[in-house]
Amino acid sequence: MAEQSKKWVLMVTAQTPTNIAVIKYWGKRDENLILAINDSISVTLDPAHLCTTTTVAVSPDFDEDRMWLNGKEISLAGGRYQNCLREIRARASDVEDEKKGIKITKNDWQNLHVHVASYNNFPTAAGLASSAAGFACLVFSLAKLMNVQEDNGRLSAIARQGSGSACRSLFGGFVKWVMGKEEDGSDSIAVPLVDEKHWDELVIIIAVVSSRQKETSSTSGMRDTVETSSLIEHRAKEVVPKRIIKMEEAIQNHDFPTFAQLTCSDSNQFHAVCMDTTPPIFYMNDTSHRQKVLMGCQLFRIIGCVEKWNRSEGTPQVAYTFDAGPNAVLIARNRKAATLMLQRLLFHFPPNSDTDLNSYVIGDKSILKDAG
Ligand code: DP6
Repeated sequence: MAEQSKKWVLMVTAQTPTNIAVIKYWGKRDENLILAINDSISVTLDPAHLCTTTTVAVSPDFDEDRMWLNGKEISLAGGRYQNCLREIRARASDVEDEKKGIKITKNDWQNLHVHVASYNNFPTAAGLASSAAGFACLVFSLAKLMNVQEDNGRLSAIARQGSGSACRSLFGGFVKWVMGKEEDGSDSIAVPLVDEKHWDELVIIIAVVSSRQKETSSTSGMRDTVETSSLIEHRAKEVVPKRIIKMEEAIQNHDFPTFAQLTCSDSNQFHAVCMDTTPPIFYMNDTSHRQKVLMGCQLFRIIGCVEKWNRSEGTPQVAYTFDAGPNAVLIARNRKAATLMLQRLLFHFPPNSDTDLNSYVIGDKSILKDAG
């Protein structure tokens, strides 16, 4: 490798959608390995709307690992990036590109540096799981570049060490992150429940309330919750295990009423444990700025609007869920319900009015795409 070095670059590009949890992960039992205190289930979104595109490149001319996010250089010094890079390098295999005359052996990878350019087509760190798509895409593209011979389940355990929710973005459709029991995290992996074609009449609407970065990161928020909330243990040990079983059944059976009831309850309980944290965390209703108070009110109005409509129809048409940020994710039972929901949103929150809720993204569930 050393002799033929200089002036060659090998590149891979991949695209990974984000995912939205319908049974939330909140709380770690191991901060370094990122091991959760409960199982979680998510749906992977359509990459056309919310995804990360990452290009990874290797060249003997690179003298350090570097990364750019949305065009701005960021540090790779953090433990999460280092853990992912180390785990992928440890599994690298030989790569040969005859046309370019490149031959890289398994051992060469330990000394070669990578450059990473990553781009999110949606607001970063605004509670739309940007770290999920970001780390999943980083791990997936590095694995392709370094010819790692492991399936997406094994790769999910590496992406998990970048950000917990990232492990679920390695698959399309509905995905479960099994918290696992092993101390080394080897059984804490994502498992696909059903692929993106199963239950394809569901439509997801994301009401982008704010593209600002959230004030409390998920990482520090969940650490505070685990340390101070007396509700979190009850949630993790008693409530979530039962909900996981029911949710898996609801997904298998296309049972929308049960799916919607579980999704809304789990989102509400997640925000309840956030409020039970000291100091309390208000992802849906931040009180620090007037404009944000307004936003919070809008979010509660979205919940009210969905609850009222579902009750008046006699059976749920739409489920709502909110992650660690102010953007609403609405899952409609079919296209007709999505259209009616959108009409209601546009009526209550018209774009460019004095409200802050001004853009809507609609998408079907989707699948991981390998653009490499
Ligand atoms: C509310 O995966 O962002 O979106 O593991 O510390 O990176 P870290 O946290 P992160 O937390 C996501 C929390 C959530 C729920 C979920 O996606 O399950």
